[in-house]
Amino acid sequence: MNKQRPIMHAIVLTALVMIPVLLIAAPSPTGKPGSIERGRYVVKISGCNDCHTPAYAQRDGQVPERDWLTGDGTGWSGPWGTTYASNLRLKLAALSEAQWLQLARTAQYRPPMPWFNLRAMSDGDLRAVYRYVRHLGPAGVAAPAYVPPGGAVATAVVRFPGPPPAQ
Ligand code: HEC
Repeated sequence: MNKQRPIMHAIVLTALVMIPVLLIAAPSPTGKPGSIERGRYVVKISGCNDCHTPAYAQRDGQVPERDWLTGDGTGWSGPWGTTYASNLRLKLAALSEAQWLQLARTAQYRPPMPWFNLRAMSDGDLRAVYRYVRHLGPAGVAAPAYVPPGGAVATAVVRFPGPPPAQ
């Protein structure tokens, strides 16, 4: 009996040391900063697909990744006219990483694009988004062009109720 004690101690000690080591080594679901994995995670949780991927919201997110961010032909109509969520696969294919960072920090798009969310992202997350979208590669066709207020709209639209309420 006594002879087995040291062995038991060794097993318990090894387990105590290995558990934290394994936990640290386990791949993080959020990806390493600036990585493609991180980009996929940020795109997924920050809602880009809801507008920039055809039928993503209607299909509860069940759209193959190869179709993500290829733009959408449903218009968003309001006092600003009608906007279409752009094809980001084509857009980012035409930009360098530095140009993307500059754009994300300065561009102010029409509603309902949450450009302010891009500005709130860290450089690391913006770089990760860029690398992820470039990793997916260019695909699809350009979304319909913006239509100014009063112009003829040839697509289905989501209509916003009117000007924003006064603050
Ligand atoms: C609520 C819908 C919506 C969401 C969510 C959204 N976008 Fe957009 N996005 C749009 C629309 C609509 C436009 C076109 C705006 C315009 O015409 O000014 C646009 C335009 C853009 C553009 C400009 C592209 C160009 O052709 O110049 C970029 C870049 C962009 N979105 C990136 C993103 C990213 C990255 C996310 C996720 C963090 C995101 N968008 C989330 C609707 C959305």
